Order: sequence, then structure tokens, then C-alpha cells
Amino acid sequence: MKILNRAIEVKAMIKSGDRSFQPFKGKSMAMIFAKPSMRTRVSFETGFFLLGGHAVYLGPDDIQMGKREETRDVARVLSGYNDIIMARVFAHQDILDLAKYAPVPVINGLTDYNHPCQIMADALTMLEHVGRIENTKGFEPDAKTVEIARSAGSKIEITNDPKEAVKGADVVYTDVWASMGQKEEAEYRKKVFQGFMVDEALMEMAGPKAFLMHCLPAERGVEVTDGAIEAPNSIVFPQAENRMHAQNAIMLHMLGA
Ligand code: CP
Repeated sequence: MKILNRAIEVKAMIKSGDRSFQPFKGKSMAMIFAKPSMRTRVSFETGFFLLGGHAVYLGPDDIQMGKREETRDVARVLSGYNDIIMARVFAHQDILDLAKYAPVPVINGLTDYNHPCQIMADALTMLEHVGRIENTKGFEPDAKTVEIARSAGSKIEITNDPKEAVKGADVVYTDVWASMGQKEEAEYRKKVFQGFMVDEALMEMAGPKAFLMHCLPAERGVEVTDGAIEAPNSIVFPQAENRMHAQNAIMLHMLGA
């Protein structure tokens, strides 16, 4: 909540046009991308720049972490040039290794296990639109992660019935059925997920107060309809913008600024 409140504060400053807050002046960030990205790359690069810093993009061919060079060596070399590292990798172990060997803060920009910056932007968007994040947030999620969330106070009910799931919801959240690293399962997942597309009818069942969220990129006509994304209760674009504001607050927190 401390980071989310900071995101709200710094977002207001940026949206007002005030550019006097430059806590990252003289600082640099290395951005490692082993996978493609639009939102993560641009929101981190622009966010760091708006707060005075300089970001360096390293694409899939630049480092080839674990192939051309060991992850622990990448961590230490980049830490010598930069104040902070953000990385989008395949194996979750890679982000853990980067964090272990880098003396500077390391931010997870998506691994095959999780996408915490997206979650922070989602929470910020729910706070702004629903007013709270409690009681808001399945392909049967990882049981250990569910237990961690439950023991931290979250109430989680799991159902395989989309109509039952959306009834009375504040937020209906969907995502691509096959994410990066799962593309070979795309056809299989399309069959398994028949009936789970979020369309206008499902949103109507959710009720008039339900918002639609999606972390994007979306495959319109697959997991979500064009009409549902373009409807007035869709908050997917404010949600995408909030990636930058949530991450700015994460970077401020990590750099103690
Ligand atoms: N939502 C998200 O992480 O988008 P990108 O894959 O474009 O970064």
C-alpha cells in the first residue's frame, strides 16, 4: 500500500505536467529483455526518464543470458554500470539469480512464473476505479501461490464456471489464453477454454458496476471481444498507463528516493 500510495502521488505530479521531481537524475537502469515487450519496455524507459534517469535497453540478442554469458556474471557486470536492473526472462530462477548476484536492486518484468509489476499496476487501477483492492481478484492458479495469498489475508474462491465467477464482481479480469512461452499450446488452450471468452453478454451478467481489465496485449475475438474492450466500463487503457506509475513508485522505493 505504501508503494501504491506513492504511485498515486507521483502520478498526479506527472499528469499535472510538473517535471521538477527528478529523483533519478544521474542514475541509470539496465533493462534486460529475453522476450518481446511493448508496455513493459516503454513504461519503464519513459517512467525512469520522466523522473530524471537514463535507461539502457538490452534485447534478446544482446545478452543471451545463460547461453553467451552466465546469469551471475551478467548481474555483476551490469551492476558496475547501473544503479538498478529490470529484467524480463523465461525461467524464474534467472530473476532469482540476478537478484542474488547483483548488488543493485533487481525488478521482475515478467518470468514464466509471475508478473508482479503488472499486478501492482492492476492494483493501482482497481484502487482508482473500484476504490479498494480487497475481495476483487483462475485457470486453477498455482496452489502454493494461492496458499501464500490466503495466509496474507486474501479471500480466494476458485470456480470453472465463468457465469458464476462474474456474478456481482467489481472487476472481470482476463488475459491471453497462451502467454509467451506457451505458444505451442495455443491450439490446445483454445479448445479447452471454449466458453471462457469475455464478451458483452458475460459483462452484462457481471452487473452494471463491473469493470473489465486485461493486462494486454489482447487477442480480440479469442479471450475477449472487441465490443467488451471498447465498452465504457473497460479500464484496460488506464490499466496499461498505470504500469508506468506503479513501476515509478517501485523504483522510488527500491532506490530509497
Ligand atoms: N502487459 C505486458 O507486460 O505487456 P508487454 O508484454 O507489451 O510488456
